[in-house]
Amino acid sequence: MSIVDLPLLPLGKGRDLDAERGVECPGDLPAASDPSLVARARAAKEALGERVFVLGHHYQRDEVIQFADVTGDSFKLARDAAARPDAEFIVFCGVHFMAESADILTSPAQQVVLPDLAAGCSMADMARLAQVEDAWDALAEAGIQDSVVPVTYMNSSADIKAFCGRNGGVVCTSSNADVALEWAFAQKADGGEDAKVLFLPDQHLGRNTAVLQMGIALDECVVWDPRLPSGGLSREELQRARMILWRGHCSVHGRFTEDVVDELRARHPGINVLVHPECRHEVVLKADLVGSTEFIIKTIEAAEPGTTWAIGTELNLVKRLADAHPDKTIVFLDRNVCYCSTMNRIDLPHLVWALESLVAGTVVNRVTVDPETEADALVALQRMLDLPGKSHRD
Ligand code: 13P
Ligand code: SF4
Repeated sequence: MSIVDLPLLPLGKGRDLDAERGVECPGDLPAASDPSLVARARAAKEALGERVFVLGHHYQRDEVIQFADVTGDSFKLARDAAARPDAEFIVFCGVHFMAESADILTSPAQQVVLPDLAAGCSMADMARLAQVEDAWDALAEAGIQDSVVPVTYMNSSADIKAFCGRNGGVVCTSSNADVALEWAFAQKADGGEDAKVLFLPDQHLGRNTAVLQMGIALDECVVWDPRLPSGGLSREELQRARMILWRGHCSVHGRFTEDVVDELRARHPGINVLVHPECRHEVVLKADLVGSTEFIIKTIEAAEPGTTWAIGTELNLVKRLADAHPDKTIVFLDRNVCYCSTMNRIDLPHLVWALESLVAGTVVNRVTVDPETEADALVALQRMLDLPGKSHRD
């Protein structure tokens, strides 16, 4: 097996521009032990002034988030990036697919920087364009392609978004997956029984949204395994399905289990269990509330003092919520530490290096999407931004 065939490159080793994969950092990073890092980041940001706009995803480390001009989930950050046409540099503290989306949604004159290019996403890597195109052809052979609308989660590479744009589909995030699915089913002439969605790449978000919010039966959801011929599905299974779920998942949210929910409920009677929809369906079924990172934050902000919460999402966010709400008891829904290792690649030394390089006139780690991919991906992203109303999860 060659190194590019590995599901995940050993971080920082090698280069694969077709994927959410790492490359070596080309410069000299400041030492993590350097006591002046905070002052250096502040000085570099001040020197750049309005020329730079720093975006921070909620799963970023505190040491990085303190320098974000705005924080948000992937949906909010995509909108925020598009709303700052005057900023010359967008420094994206998040992962590669988010930086790509920011590049697509901003003008060609604006340059998007990802402080560490090894900050990819294992879920996004689980759907490669060639695999998705093969699946699309197989759906044509099964005689159902005309009734399928492709919907991709924001957590996918730009070429998968472009595939959706080219084929009448849309992007969604965990804040608006229900609205996107409604839109997708309505695209087909009858908008009803025969319409199907190919949902990429997160089977859990697709299943949780379809079953819990759209009233689609669990047995109308099938899983397409890209490693098997015909996705491992028979023609009949495909014809009967309403949701064709790509076999992808988040390695962080996939860790939460039902038995920890049971254990915490036994230990803390009255505890509220709040999880992200990237969690497995069995875990979501046991939870009290499910929603995007923005929903999780708003729910905790609105919670009564004295209430107890178990939260199933990335640990940086859960820790930050616990620190910000000492009047509530907030526990993590896993026995072990559960950070997103790629989100955590962005640390203060990388941020300082990226900002100081910009001050010195060098744009490092620029993320660009080629114009053809960008045009098609923009179609799917714009469809998402134009979706009517707001999800109840927002
Ligand atoms: P949201 O930001 O859409 O809540 O997604 C969570 C996530 O896993 C980001 O990588
Ligand atoms: Fe990808 Fe999961 Fe990390 Fe988000 S939390 S970047 S979906 S691996």
